Amino acid sequence: MLRIREMSYRVAGRPLFEDASVTIPAGHKVGLIGRNGSGKTTLLRLIVGEAQVDQGAIELDGIGIDQIGRVAQEAPGGAISPLDFVLAADKERAALMAEAETAAQPERIAEIQIRLADIDAHSAPARAASILAGLGFDNDSQQQPLATFSGGWRMRAALAAVLFSTPEFMILDEPTNHLDLEAALWLETYLKSYRGTLLIVSHDRDLLNRAVTSILHLEGCQLFFYEGGYDRFEKTRQERLTLAAAAARKQEHQRRHMQAFIDRFRYKASKARQAQSRIKALEKMETINLAISEPNTVFRFPEPEALAPPLITFDRADVGYLAEKPVLRNLSFRIDPDDRIGFLGQNGNGKSTLARLISGELTAQSGEGHRSNKLRVGYFAQDQIEALDAEATAITHLQRLMPRATPTEIRSQLGGVGLIQDRQDVLSKNMSGGERARLSIAIILIHKPNILILDEPTNHLDIDARDALADALNSFAGCVILISHDRRLLELTTDRLWLVADGTVRDYDDDLEAYRKSVLADRREKNRGDPGAENNSRGDKREDRRAAAARRKQSAELRKTVHSTEQALEKLQVKMQKIQAVLNDPDFYQKESTARIQEIATRQRQLASEIEAAEAAWLNAAEALEAAS
Ligand SMILES: Nc1ncnc2c1ncn2[C@@H]1O[C@H](COP(=O)(O)OP(=O)(O)OP(=O)(O)O)[C@@H](O)[C@H]1O
Ligand SMILES: [Mg+2]
Repeated sequence: MLRIREMSYRVAGRPLFEDASVTIPAGHKVGLIGRNGSGKTTLLRLIVGEAQVDQGAIELDGIGIDQIGRVAQEAPGGAISPLDFVLAADKERAALMAEAETAAQPERIAEIQIRLADIDAHSAPARAASILAGLGFDNDSQQQPLATFSGGWRMRAALAAVLFSTPEFMILDEPTNHLDLEAALWLETYLKSYRGTLLIVSHDRDLLNRAVTSILHLEGCQLFFYEGGYDRFEKTRQERLTLAAAAARKQEHQRRHMQAFIDRFRYKASKARQAQSRIKALEKMETINLAISEPNTVFRFPEPEALAPPLITFDRADVGYLAEKPVLRNLSFRIDPDDRIGFLGQNGNGKSTLARLISGELTAQSGEGHRSNKLRVGYFAQDQIEALDAEATAITHLQRLMPRATPTEIRSQLGGVGLIQDRQDVLSKNMSGGERARLSIAIILIHKPNILILDEPTNHLDIDARDALADALNSFAGCVILISHDRRLLELTTDRLWLVADGTVRDYDDDLEAYRKSVLADRREKNRGDPGAENNSRGDKREDRRAAAARRKQSAELRKTVHSTEQALEKLQVKMQKIQAVLNDPDFYQKESTARIQEIATRQRQLASEIEAAEAAWLNAAEALEAAS
């Protein structure tokens, strides 16, 4: 499917690939991993022909570049709704639907209808809606013009469109960067059941363990293919390194031995021949290349000034943007200097509003609030990365913010987030995603904050940097507040979880795995279609549904439902087979009237959507039953 042969490629004089070769068979789901700035995004651009290799070749077997499914760079916009935008991604369906409006010839009409049924076109709106729901669009927002959404949400719509078009070969570059934990969890299960070939850049171990079948590691300008998920990759790689190290030691030993022989007998006539042959052998000996392990990233966070607890208290506070309509109500909490809090909650529930209240960007509309006098907050949010000056280097950015600092101090500050020497002088527009993210983190550390609020800090960061971030947070002397879809980071660094939901905040007493299950159950509920309920007072109803779902799980009713939905489905399938047989009969089109042909085609279409609905009902019941057992 994809073959890369002895490929070399340089950017600004620096090699990213040197003689790299790899083959990815069709149907594989491959996680592309590698350090920030190693060239993953560049590799994807080379594959789709946006850049040309310097040497070697990239071959795509049996598939054209235009058939590769990938998320457009530019977020879509305009008056079109997310739902219509996603539907339009199935080009064949869109074309057939348009033709059906105008076609006059009965044979053509029948052909169109049959083809539409074949490609399952009638269930398309339901499928599109379920993908959008999975990615966090509620029923109402699926219908709003794209132009009314933020950039992040429009990128989600773009992702939904690619998923919906079910390309044979799909390329995704860190798709979870635009997602919250809830949508990322959904995407993971979606990709897991995806049937085509997938090449996905990701730094998320959980996703790499659950959703892909193999790992492609870009290291030292080479590509290495490993079967299995991330954990297996790490183990295999470790074994490979250990073996290589042992072989290298053995070789070194042989080498010394031969050299000693040569030195000793070189000028001794009786042994000269042997010495000569050893000299040749030594020359021919191929050196075993030990993978030069790249230096580990280390993050250094500055120690804040010690302050007496509590840093912040609120009592029955309301916060929001409009006086009459607070986003969050009745907030009572305190924050101490060594707190480690993770925020959970759907997008739109108010996680960022709460973060802004704590950071001091927003003030409480009512209730009591108090903050420590000398409190300094470092607030990292996604838009900071986008706000970097494209024409400035990392050094320039820090110089502007710390006019009195010496060049050495500035370089050391950047080193503290793993931006090494030669990466410090690159213009921000030429930096990779991870390099920009590191620079943004360096910027919020400048004033030695007592509270670090990190809103999706791992986006773009490679796996080593995520580990480094976890280490740095754990040894950081101040308070940490974390919003992240990286479960591992949440697990490693937080000791309390707050759930932002129903217009307020409460402690979440269960663990993240329990949260994962409840989110997925919730998204399934949503797909079952309950339009309206989603839009207004999300809170109470969602709670009710959750409780109802739990009760249902307990009851033996479930098993009955599975059985009855299965039977209904079977009946429909038998009917469908009969219709298919009629339609497949070549005589049918000769002997029947146009009206009759159309009638049968319509019946087939109806059946197809009934089957779709019955399948969904059965699947839901079966999944619920599985979850309960
Ligand atoms: N015009 C340029 N001048 C200098 N360096 C450049 C230029 N264009 C790209 N680079 C460098 O090429 C390297 C590869 O970039 P690429 O975006 O492919 O990395 P990546 O592996 O996708 O990284 P990340 O994990 O951070 O997304 C980066 O170090 C980047 O700074
Ligand atoms: Mg990249």
